[in-house]
Amino acid sequence: MTTPADLDRLAREILARNDRGGYTVPNEKVYPFQWNWDSAFVALGFAVYDEDRAWRELETLFLGQWDDGMVPSIVFHQPAENYYPGPPAWGTRHDPPTTGISQPPVAATAARVIYAGSADRPAAAARARALFPKLMASHRWWHEVRDPDGTGLVTVTHPWETGRDNSPEWDAPLAAVTPTVSVAALRKDKTHVNASERPTDDFYDRVMTLVEEAKALHWDGKAVARRLSLRVCDIGIQSILVRADHDLLWLAGELGLAAEAVELEGWIDRSTLAFDRLLAPDGTWRSMDLRTGKLAPTISSGSFLPLYARVGGQAAADRLAGVLDRWAPAVSYAVPSSDPLAPTYDPVRYWRGPVWLVVNRMICDGFAAAGRDDVAARIAAQSRALVLEHGLAEYFDPRTGEGLGGRDFSWSAAMWLAWLARPDAGFALT
Ligand code: DGY
Repeated sequence: MTTPADLDRLAREILARNDRGGYTVPNEKVYPFQWNWDSAFVALGFAVYDEDRAWRELETLFLGQWDDGMVPSIVFHQPAENYYPGPPAWGTRHDPPTTGISQPPVAATAARVIYAGSADRPAAAARARALFPKLMASHRWWHEVRDPDGTGLVTVTHPWETGRDNSPEWDAPLAAVTPTVSVAALRKDKTHVNASERPTDDFYDRVMTLVEEAKALHWDGKAVARRLSLRVCDIGIQSILVRADHDLLWLAGELGLAAEAVELEGWIDRSTLAFDRLLAPDGTWRSMDLRTGKLAPTISSGSFLPLYARVGGQAAADRLAGVLDRWAPAVSYAVPSSDPLAPTYDPVRYWRGPVWLVVNRMICDGFAAAGRDDVAARIAAQSRALVLEHGLAEYFDPRTGEGLGGRDFSWSAAMWLAWLARPDAGFALT
């Protein structure tokens, strides 16, 4: 078993090794560019020992921001041959090249954490003030472009946008997408990672079909939101966005930005109310297929994230704690990314079962805020044991703890530094 001091060293070494000068690649083999939510979590790791570098991680991400406010899922700052789909497959014509989809908006939350922990508040205020309009524009994009009818539920048009790419939640919505491309031969990921730990070829054909559909719409944001053949409300993005709205509102207060605060309050009120539409009869929140109005048949790790958005109180937390109790005999490490008792569960295949530390971080925060420190403490302890016993892998088998996917992974290193290395720092993220 590794010692905490060893992991501290390793985590810093991983961030240094994956640093490309202002941004961090999640893993040089599997993901050789800048990823959106990876960078926001990585910034939390840097914030522990290099505040300037933490801000730069966010600032560099926003170099990829589109005119309509969207922050892309990947910014291709430099060419790399070992990843598919690269810039030509996306055809977005942005400089620097980017994908045409977004990812869970964690950046405002990261900015709040860095600002609040800053040893030099005036310097932090200058960085936060410069970033604020960009963060605001990205939230406006979600609340307006991706919610064109103002329902309070934001639309996701691609499984990669959710970050929980091949979760069973997207099986039914993806089944309605007729594949028009066959891309198995173009994939690079399976040369770096065991194929059993990655999404299937059929998944790739369907998700690349969605890219082709959006290309045909010239990546027009509103047209994509209304017309793509996959349109879902992801309980993960819905929650992470509302939480980030709260954190941006806090920053607006610190920076004295009154008009922005009013706009943020409006989004928070509207979106918070809309969570009721995502409640299944068993009292758990689910993702929704917006084309059919159907809720996802299975609970995923995303279903725990409304607590992180400060939606639902102790009764909801008690219900979700009950779900974890039901799952406990099937897993040694919480929280599996999908229901381990459901037929769709696959404990090694990416988002169909494995444990992911960044999601655990948010779930831990949510349980604590809803009055269940006991559950937060259990998740934190199991996450700490996981990395002490199995290292800083991309994701983990919930039964054995075995590390899966990419090794020496940036956001896992950051979660060690910012969270698991400090068991007494409390469970709250902000
Ligand atoms: C991948 O390539 O697997 C990524 O998750 C897409 O963003």
